[in-house]
Formats: sequence, structure tokens, C-alpha cells
Amino acid sequence: MGRRYIPALGYDWLTRFYDPLVRRTIHESGFQRRLVEQSGISPKHRVLDLGCGTASLALLIRQMHPQTLVVGLDGDPRVLHIAKGKTQRIGADLALHCAMAFQLPYANGSFDRVLSSLLFHHLGAEEKRKTLSEVWRVLRPGGELHFADWGKAEDWRMRTAFLLVQFLDGFKSTPENVRGALPKLLSQAGFVNVRETERLRTIFGNLALVRARKAPANF
Ligand SMILES: C[S@@+](CC[C@H](N)C(=O)[O-])C[C@H]1O[C@@H](n2cnc3c(N)ncnc32)[C@H](O)[C@@H]1O
Repeated sequence: MGRRYIPALGYDWLTRFYDPLVRRTIHESGFQRRLVEQSGISPKHRVLDLGCGTASLALLIRQMHPQTLVVGLDGDPRVLHIAKGKTQRIGADLALHCAMAFQLPYANGSFDRVLSSLLFHHLGAEEKRKTLSEVWRVLRPGGELHFADWGKAEDWRMRTAFLLVQFLDGFKSTPENVRGALPKLLSQAGFVNVRETERLRTIFGNLALVRARKAPANF
């Protein structure tokens, strides 16, 4: 069987450099903090960090919302090993699960919020569709998805910058990002109130923050 996921920086041997690289280049904690702020998490919520990688976002959620139950999921056991080390060093209470984003090991309606940072450009078109349908399934009615990922380039500088991400992570998993088609895929998966909330300029291209809702039961 072929590989079922693209590692954090495209190649396994680069995974250990992921944290220092993103810290120095795109100031990860800055946009992740905005993502957590816009997500309206409350203490009783159950939150999933989808494609958690080294658990930076999951740990930030725990830091900003210490009462909230947070689960991190990633398909790569190597990156989860790094995540586990970070979690233990900080002494944080965080569940980490190894599974594919498009086959989530959770019952229907298990989460109030699903947050995700830089996962979707690692998924092929069909995987994106399956993942969104899985996220919709595991959210409770009225639950929300908030994610950050590469969006449509505002100008040729941003388009050129994004080529570096495409060389690392692949050209097959990124056309929907280039076209800015992720919000449309969300609507097709059944989400409502789909909105790009922010578009940030980074040295790797435009980063879009997106929110969407699973309609409440009486909608
Ligand atoms: C660019 S990294 C982002 C990591 C983390 N969310 C962050 O922002 O620091 C993308 C992550 O998605 C994971 N991933 C890629 N394809 C996946 C899949 N099909 N299922 C689960 N995780 C996947 C990779 O292993 C990697 O850790």
C-alpha cells in the first residue's frame, strides 16, 4: 500500500525541523492564536485539532482554555512522537491519536469544535472531500470547524511564494488551495455560514483563516 499522508514538510527526514522552521518563518503561534480566538471555545467544549503535527495548536488551545478537553489527531506516528515529547515536557493533559483525517475514529457528534492548521493542502481532492464529510459527521449539530490553510494568492508575489510549499508538499494536493476553492468544498460537504475571516501575507504565500458551521438540528 502506498503512503496515505504527506509528512509535515513533505519528507520524513525533515519532520524534526518543522517547529523551528515555522516558528522562524510564518510566526505560527500568531495566526494559531487568532484561529483559537475566533473559534469561541468554552470550558465544556470537546475540541479536536485535526492534523495536529507537533501539537502546537492543541497545546495553545489547552493554554488558552485550560478546562477544555482537547484531542490531537495526526496520521504520522513520527510527528506524534515529537508531539508527545512536547506535551510531556510541558506537563499538559492532551490526548494524541494516530489516524487518517478522512477516516476519523470517533462517533457521530463527538466534538463541539474542530480546529486545524495547515492540514488541508496535504490532502488530495478526494481526501479533502472525505475529510470534510468526516469533520461534519464528528461535529455535533451547531458545532464549528475553524482552520488555517493556504488560500488564493492575492498577487503574483504571493503565487510565486506558494511554489515553495508546492515543491515540498506536492502539486497534486494543492490545486484547490491555489484556486481558493476550500470554502466551496465546505459548502458542498453540508457546512453553513462558511466564511474566510482573514487572509494573511506570509513568505510562503497567502494564509486564509476559514470558519464554517454544522447547522443546528432545528435549522
Ligand atoms: C504542515 S503540517 C501541520 C501540522 C500542525 N497542524 C501545525 O500547524 O503545526 C501537516 C500535518 O498534517 C498531517 N497529515 C497529512 N495528511 C494527513 C492525513 N491524511 N491524516 C492525518 N494527518 C495528516 C501530517 O502528518 C502533518 O503533521
